[in-house]
Amino acid sequence: MGIVQTLQVGSLPVTPPIALAPMVGLSHSALRSLVQEEGGVGLLYSEMLTVKRLPHDNPRCSPLLARSTGEWPLFYQLVAAGPEHLAEAVDTLHSLDAQGIDLNLGCPAPMVRKMGAGTELVADRPTLLATLRLLRRRTTLPLTVKIRLGRNLDIPALQELCRTLAGEGVDLLTVHARLDGEKFCRKPRWQAVAAVREVVDLPILANGGIFSVADARRCLAESGADGLMLGRGAVTRPWLPAAIAREVYGLPVAGSGRTPTEVYFRFSELLGERFAPERQLGRLKQFTQYFAAVCPFGHHLAAAIQSSTGMAEALARATAFFAGISWDAAYRRM
Ligand SMILES: Cc1cc2nc3c(=O)[nH]c(=O)nc-3n(C[C@H](O)[C@H](O)[C@H](O)COP(=O)(O)O)c2cc1C
Repeated sequence: MGIVQTLQVGSLPVTPPIALAPMVGLSHSALRSLVQEEGGVGLLYSEMLTVKRLPHDNPRCSPLLARSTGEWPLFYQLVAAGPEHLAEAVDTLHSLDAQGIDLNLGCPAPMVRKMGAGTELVADRPTLLATLRLLRRRTTLPLTVKIRLGRNLDIPALQELCRTLAGEGVDLLTVHARLDGEKFCRKPRWQAVAAVREVVDLPILANGGIFSVADARRCLAESGADGLMLGRGAVTRPWLPAAIAREVYGLPVAGSGRTPTEVYFRFSELLGERFAPERQLGRLKQFTQYFAAVCPFGHHLAAAIQSSTGMAEALARATAFFAGISWDAAYRRM
C-alpha cells in the first residue's frame, strides 16, 4: 500500500496518520499539547487508565485526566481484565469527550499481567471476546486496540488474533513490533507487521523504534502499515512527527520554529499550566530523561534535573545548562 495522508478510523478522519503513543507518566496533557504545537500528529493517546479506578477519578484534579480543549482528537487507553467495571469506564470517557477508546492488549508489565490485563488478556480468549463485545456495544466512538507480536513469533497465531479483533468491530489496530518479553532497546520486528497487513483490512499503525525520518520511511516500507505511532521518539524530539509529516507524507506542516531550548521551556510552562506544583517535577524528570538525548552533553542535564528537589531549582539548572548551547538547524533533520 502507498502513502495515504488521511486514515479513516471509524467515523473519524485522521491526518496525518501519525499518533502519539500512550505512555505512563509521559503522554499527559502537557506533552500532548507540546507535540501538537510542534505539529504533525494526527491522533493523541492518553496514558493507560485502569477501568476500576477511572470512574472514581475526579477530572478536575486527577493528573491522569487533565486535558486542554486543544488536545483533539484524543483517544483514551483502557486497561481491563475483562468486562467488569468496563461499562462505567466507557461512560466516564463519554463524559470526558473522548474521540475514541483504545484497549491495551500489549502491556507486559508484571502489575498489569497480574490483573489479567494487557498481554494476559490476549491469552484468555473468552474474556477478551466478552470485553471487546461489551466495548463495541457500549460506544459508537472509534475503537482501537494496541497489541504486541505475542509471546513467541508465531505468525499464524498473530494473524488469527488480528482477524478476530477485526471481526469484533475494532476500527484500528496498533502493532508494537516486539514480542511480549522483549525490551524497548531490542530492534523492532517491523516485517512481522506486514504479516498482519496481509490478513486484515483494518487501518494499521506500526509502532516501535521510530526515532528519525529515515526510521519512519523504513518502518512503513517494511511493515506496509498505513501509519505510525511514535512513543519515545516524540519525547526525545517533539518536532519529529512534523518532520515525518512533511518529508514522508508530503504535508505542509510548518512546525513551531522553536529551538530545542525553547521546546524544553515551553514544556515546563505547560506543566505549570496543567498540573498542581507537586505534580510537575516528577513529570519534568521523566520527560528530561528522554529529551536530554538530543542535547550535546545531555547527560549533564539529565543528572541535574534528576537530583533537583523542586521546580525552581530544576529550571535554574536547566537555564544554566542551555545557556551553553547554540543550535543550528541540523537537529531538525536528525
Ligand atoms: C515510559 C513508558 C510508558 C509506557 N506506557 C504505555 C501505556 O500506558 N500503554 C501502552 O500501550 N504502551 C505503553 N508504553 C509503550 C509505548 O506505547 C510504545 O509501544 C513503546 O514505547 C514502543 O514505541 P517507541 O519505540 O516509539 O517508544 C510505554 C512506553 C514507555 C517508554
